[in-house]
Amino acid sequence: AQAPRVLGIESTCDETAAAIVQGRELISNVVASSMQEHARYGGVIPEIASRAHAQSFIPVVEQALHDAHLTLDDIDAIAVSAGPGLAGCLAVGVSGAKALALAANKPLYGINHVIGHIAVTQLQFGAFPERTMALIVSGGHTSLLEVHDIARDVRVKGTTLDDAAGECFDKVARLLGFPYPGGPYIDRHARLGDPHALRVPQGLTQGRAGAEHPFDFSFSGVKTAVARWVEQETAQGHEIPVDDVCASLAYSVADVLAKKAITACVDADVYTLVVGGGFSANSQLRAALQQYGERHGIEVRLPELKLCTDNGAMVAQLGVNLIEAGCAPSPLDCPIDSAMPL
Ligand code: KG4
Ligand code: ZN
Repeated sequence: AQAPRVLGIESTCDETAAAIVQGRELISNVVASSMQEHARYGGVIPEIASRAHAQSFIPVVEQALHDAHLTLDDIDAIAVSAGPGLAGCLAVGVSGAKALALAANKPLYGINHVIGHIAVTQLQFGAFPERTMALIVSGGHTSLLEVHDIARDVRVKGTTLDDAAGECFDKVARLLGFPYPGGPYIDRHARLGDPHALRVPQGLTQGRAGAEHPFDFSFSGVKTAVARWVEQETAQGHEIPVDDVCASLAYSVADVLAKKAITACVDADVYTLVVGGGFSANSQLRAALQQYGERHGIEVRLPELKLCTDNGAMVAQLGVNLIEAGCAPSPLDCPIDSAMPL
């Protein structure tokens, strides 16, 4: 039999995306973003994002089919992110996917967006070894996950107790006057600064909290420490060494993420770490992961950027995995879940 061919639909946040995956092959991939519309508000406005999804949904799906030279009839199943994400945004994507499934008489698979970020790495690196660790880092998530079976058994090893890493970068960036999302600006300036210029705490690395949460993260203290330092310097009339601030922040966050991810692999005797989420574009994190990975003999699978940020391919690929594993489709009255657990 031919490998399943799945249309994947993504609308959890500010990207309306559709893609077609057959087996482990990406056939088409279309992404429309409402990011520009949120920039002047300094963050994603759910109401604006939902409206943008309602507008872009059909054009994006049509483009994905058109690029693949296919019609809905040629698709085996439709997969859609049913959570976690912004409720209004999820409602648009899931309702649209249900309508398509009903009209074309195709099975529907509501999938977990975070597991999609892991699944998508198969497009570039192939199937997972029997045991894999995953580090998913973006503006919305920071999680360390154990992948036993991508379709049925992914377990949380650790997660952030407060802010996501990208969120922390975006908040500090705002303080420094960079436009939203500020993560990439911090990255660029960090390359020019001294990573040890100021002491930025890493959060949950040592002490009692660290022992209780060996694989959890905390970034709100990191943000507060940088904010307080900048405030004090400004009050004393000192000029803020922006490059040094960025470098110190980036070093602190990248180092704790990479160290914990690689330690989790070593502890569990796992030799493959897959990475995903928009923050995995961060050059300091990529360098730290490569360095710690090499030192400990762990293969670090860092996908190209278009597969790291939110897209439809991650949804379609996980849909393929669910079909291959013999999982039942979702009913057409399946709910959305903005806080969907794994
Ligand atoms: O996955 P994504 O596109 O959207 C979600 O948050 O789900 O990730 C966006 C996040 C933002 O916080 C952005 O600032 C951060 O990833 N980001 C970066 C870099 N590129 C994107 N942060 C640091 N360095 C980068 N190069
Ligand atoms: Zn995401």
